[in-house]
Amino acid sequence: AGIVENTFVVSQVNMTHLCKETLVTVVNGQLPGPVINVTEGDSVVVHVVNKSPYNMTIHWHGVKQRLNCWADGVPMITQYPILPNQNFTYRFDVSGQEGTLWWHAHIPCLRATVHGAIVIRPRHGPSMYPFTKPHREIPIIIGEWWEVNLEELDMDLRYFVNDHFFSASTINGKLGDLYNCSGVVEDGYVLDVEPGRTYLLRVINAALYSEYYFKIAGHKFTVVAAGANYVEPYTTDVIAIAPGETIDALVVTNAPPGSYYMVALPSQPPKPDFQSPVLVARGTVKYADNHSPRNGTVALSSYRGQGGRGSPAGDVPVAPEMPDNHDASTSFYFHGNLRSLQHPLRLPAVPAQVDERIFITLGLGSVCRRGKSCKRGEGNEEEFMLVATMNNVSFELPAAMTPLLEAQYYHGSSVETLHELPDRPPRVYNFTDPALIPYGPKAAQLEMTSSKTMVARRFRYGTTVELVFQGTALMQAESNPMHLHGHDMYVLAQGFGNYEAERDVAKYNLVDPPMVNTVLVPRLGWVAVRFIADNPGVWFMHCHFEFHLSMGMAAVFIVEDGPTVDTSLPPPPVDFPTCGHADNPTPD
Ligand code: C2O
Repeated sequence: AGIVENTFVVSQVNMTHLCKETLVTVVNGQLPGPVINVTEGDSVVVHVVNKSPYNMTIHWHGVKQRLNCWADGVPMITQYPILPNQNFTYRFDVSGQEGTLWWHAHIPCLRATVHGAIVIRPRHGPSMYPFTKPHREIPIIIGEWWEVNLEELDMDLRYFVNDHFFSASTINGKLGDLYNCSGVVEDGYVLDVEPGRTYLLRVINAALYSEYYFKIAGHKFTVVAAGANYVEPYTTDVIAIAPGETIDALVVTNAPPGSYYMVALPSQPPKPDFQSPVLVARGTVKYADNHSPRNGTVALSSYRGQGGRGSPAGDVPVAPEMPDNHDASTSFYFHGNLRSLQHPLRLPAVPAQVDERIFITLGLGSVCRRGKSCKRGEGNEEEFMLVATMNNVSFELPAAMTPLLEAQYYHGSSVETLHELPDRPPRVYNFTDPALIPYGPKAAQLEMTSSKTMVARRFRYGTTVELVFQGTALMQAESNPMHLHGHDMYVLAQGFGNYEAERDVAKYNLVDPPMVNTVLVPRLGWVAVRFIADNPGVWFMHCHFEFHLSMGMAAVFIVEDGPTVDTSLPPPPVDFPTCGHADNPTPD
């Protein structure tokens, strides 16, 4: 195994889209940021040099960080942030995982522009893929272009003040030809291909707000991995991907040579929604000129495109037919069709014995704004603040504190300001009844939650935990991509409507469930997962929609040390950032 070393200089640059120059925070001047290319088993070293005006941390999304929670990159949970003009070196191993993961700033909203791919190849070379060796591998990062200041955006989300929306969707940082301003058409991402080849697309959803449907006209995908775990090859013409998810898919260029649009369409909650615009990113798959399909499976005579043979350049590309933007079932079936592949890297069988069961409703509540009295029913709705909840509790870090991991490591059980994430919601009702969707003034009638607190749950080393996430009609019936740091989860079953144990346990796939770090809870539905809490540390668990996270849909899972050195968290790295004064100022 080798050592892969990278330097990430975080700084602000101006980028122009839609006729407007916007100051964005990026890594090494690029959007998306650099790709981290590793071989399974490698050690990764990333020197982060913070030249931005913001506090910074980088999270290696989906990297398990076994016995290395210190490198997980969550501010005030695993570390003090890297202050402006400071630097810090992350060190971690990537083992037992192959496929695609990604990295992103874990500073609220800044991850919209501070992100990039992590590509993990098999140790013994690409011939060790459990599928056709691809001719080329291409990261496809779906994102959003925001014209607002992202730090202000977080504050607005947190206190639910102004409504904001992104201005465009992007594929590898490009908006595409559906956007123009004063006659200037935006560039789209172009993937140049040769006919008759197999390409491995490593698709990442780095958006803050939206699930996406991704399609390429005239081509099918064979999905081979999700969350850096191999899946049974699954052929589909559409990929459904939520923020935080990564999907690897093969594409064979066996269509008649020409140009084909690739489209990323944001998928939205059922109508009536908040009248949000549908902002589609479009790129192009372009076949090289002067080639005919090598495998001969497609006769040129069947080509019904424009322009005829051999001259695809300049033609209008073929456009794919997209699902309806309110379609929830295509995403439901896409996710439901994933099965883990029998493969040497596959983790042990699904644990049959469950030690702890937690049923978690994902909802919306209200807390009293600071300094307000919040008496109900006196026309004082504005004294309340909307928050996102799990089982009616909402997460917030206290203002002054030591990072939780440090407190846990040095003082263990004395971390007493924690509010335990309950096993179930305080009240059972018809969670998914669309009549409960809180439009307008109805929102003020939401249940009062206790307050925003540090919601946590403590697990003994090795505990098998079953979580059932229940989506609710609150939060305008959005889906919830729930992400667990430090562990993968077996996805046992999902359904629309309310979970009922007596009926739904029978649906569990205990044979070959996919394993993921981010599980999509369908709109007005539920999902059941299991994981083994065997990685000591303090791990964030949260919705990967930024607005849900900012509003408090999060908790920390504290996994205690096991009985031996191999099952206990070692001490922090020597150069770990300390409060306010990192001792390694950036050399100039
Ligand atoms: Cu990808 Cu806690 O995040």
